[in-house]
Amino acid sequence: MSKTAKKYDRFSWIYDSFEGLAERRAFSKYRRKALRLAEGKVLEVGVGTGKNLPYYPRGVEVVGIDFSRGMLEKAERKVERLGLENVMLLHMDAQSLEFEDNTFDTAVSTFVFCTVPDPVKGLKEVYRVLKPGGKAIFLEHMKSGSGLLNISLYMMEPFTRALLGTSMLRETQKNIERAGFQIEKVENLFFDIVRLIIARKPGGEYDSEEKPVP
Ligand SMILES: C[S@@+](CC[C@H](N)C(=O)[O-])C[C@H]1O[C@@H](n2cnc3c(N)ncnc32)[C@H](O)[C@@H]1O
Repeated sequence: MSKTAKKYDRFSWIYDSFEGLAERRAFSKYRRKALRLAEGKVLEVGVGTGKNLPYYPRGVEVVGIDFSRGMLEKAERKVERLGLENVMLLHMDAQSLEFEDNTFDTAVSTFVFCTVPDPVKGLKEVYRVLKPGGKAIFLEHMKSGSGLLNISLYMMEPFTRALLGTSMLRETQKNIERAGFQIEKVENLFFDIVRLIIARKPGGEYDSEEKPVP
């Protein structure tokens, strides 16, 4: 098992309380904004304790995967408590997804690619299982374009790495592009550190050449 998965297993019992303040003040708003864009058959990578599950629109079918069994157990309890019938949770590594190519209409990750050990490998897997023209919704924190803001991120880095294997300095927007996605929209939610990125797998009816110019 990966060292990072073990870290999340150990931390899972306290994870929701640890993030409670940030969740109430900001993250819940960001989640609402991001998840209303999900459609059809949805893959949520790194579903964690299932914090996004209450925010999905009605009618979507969600498959949530995570490589930490501890986090998944918390998510399972949430599914039961909320009586969600449209959610399936699976133990799986984002870097080697056990799904056929072109399976999902939407892919979602929230605060995950700061932690996936090989982020471009994981993003390429997400790209593979998304249908051509499928939408990817990334709510992620990453390295800023400002040297000044990055000073604080460099200072946090040793602690977040040791605690949860999380990097504050990943260039996630660039990694999304490296994996082949076409970025449609970037919204900075907390400076340019927390960004909502909407991207597409080219092809299907959304092929950029066919897309109407707004
Ligand atoms: C910071 S938590 C975020 C959880 C959730 N997405 C949220 O917004 O609260 C990161 C999650 O990603 C999971 N994760 C990291 N790397 C992964 C991988 N390679 N495969 C599957 N899950 C992974 C961790 O186990 C953890 O549950």
